[in-house]
Amino acid sequence: MSKAAITGIHGYVPDYILTNAELERMVDTNDEWITSRTGIKERHILKGEGLGSSHMGAKAVTGLLEKTNTRPEDVDLLICATTTPDYVFPGTANLICDMVGIRNIGSFDIQAACSGFLYALTIGSQFIETGKYRKIIIVGVDKMSAIIDYTDRTTCVLFGDGAGAVMLEPNNEGYGVIDSVIKSDGVGQYHLFQKAGGSRYPPTHETVEKHWHYVYQDGPAVFKFAVKNMADVSAEVMERNQLTGEDIAWLVPHQANRRIIDATAHRVGIDPGKVMINIHKYGNTTAATIPLCLYDYESQLKKGDNLILAAFGGGFTWGAVYVKWAY
Ligand code: UT7
Repeated sequence: MSKAAITGIHGYVPDYILTNAELERMVDTNDEWITSRTGIKERHILKGEGLGSSHMGAKAVTGLLEKTNTRPEDVDLLICATTTPDYVFPGTANLICDMVGIRNIGSFDIQAACSGFLYALTIGSQFIETGKYRKIIIVGVDKMSAIIDYTDRTTCVLFGDGAGAVMLEPNNEGYGVIDSVIKSDGVGQYHLFQKAGGSRYPPTHETVEKHWHYVYQDGPAVFKFAVKNMADVSAEVMERNQLTGEDIAWLVPHQANRRIIDATAHRVGIDPGKVMINIHKYGNTTAATIPLCLYDYESQLKKGDNLILAAFGGGFTWGAVYVKWAY
C-alpha cells in the first residue's frame, strides 16, 4: 500500500506586523509578560476590506502549485482546515479552489480548531493510501484577528493570521504519513470557544454587545489539558512505532505557548534543538501553525527524517502524526 507523502509545502503570512510594543499601547500588558508567559514577540495581521481566510489560503496554494509544478487541473482533492471560514457557507475550501483555478473536484472544510491541520492531513492521507486519489492539497489557514477582542488582554496577545499548504502524493518507498492519532473530548467546549454566530446563538444586537462573537478562553484550564494531552498523544504515537527521542529528527508542535511546547519535548525526550519553533514571529495561527513550521524549516529537512507533528486545541481536540519526510 502506498504511503501519503508530503511532496511540497508553502506558507503565507500577511505583511502587517502587530508587535508586543503596539499591544502595550492597546491594552494593559507588557512585552515582559507576553514573552515570558507565551514566547510571542509579534504576529502578522491580515488587513484589507473583504479579505478573509480564503485570501491567505489561496496565496499558500498558488505558491504550492508553482513550487511543485502542478497544474490546477491535476489536483484531485482539496481539504481546508480552518476555524475562521470566510462564510458560514460555502466552505473556504470551495473559495480557495475558485481563486486558484481548481474546478470540478471535491473540496471541503474541517473544523477541529488548532488540531485542524492534523485532522485534515489524517483524512487526506486515507484517500492516497486507498489509491483513490494521487494529488491532494491540505491547507491550514486562520484569520484569528477576525474573532479576537482587541480590548481583552488575555486573548489578544496570543493569536495571529497565516496559512500553510502541503501537497500529498503516493509514495511506494515507505516515506510519508506512517501513523496518526486524532482525539477529542467535549469537556473542553466551554473553556475555549466563540459563543455566538452559529446556530445556537445566531447574531443579535445582544450577542454583539456581550462580545460573544470573539474568542473566549479560560487560559489556565486549557493550559493544563494542553500540556498533558499534547505530550501523551506524542508519546502514544512514538511508542506504538517503537520510536524514542533519539530517533526523531524534528518535533513539529502546534505553536500556542512556548511553555507547552517545551513540556511536550521534555516528556517525549526530544532534544530542544530538534523542536520547530516560530511562535515568536507569528503567535498562534490556529490551523496554520504546523504547516508554517514545516515551511520555515523546509531547507533543514532531509529525506528519511522522522517527524512527530502534534497539536492541541478547542473542543478539546488533539492529535499526533508520524511522518517520514520524503524529500
Ligand atoms: O491553541 C489552542 C490551545 N490554547 C492554548 O494551548 C493556550 C493555553 N493557555 C496558555 O497558554 C496560558 O494559560 C496563557 C498564556 C493564556 C496565560 O498564561 P498563564 O500563565 O496561565 O496566566 P494566567 O491566565 O493565570 O494569568 C496570570 C495573571 C493574571 O493576573 P492575576 O489574576 O494573577 O492578577 C492575569 O490577569 O496575568 C494576567 N494577565 C496578563 N497580564 C499582562 C493575563 N493576560 C495578561 C496580559 N498581560 N496579556
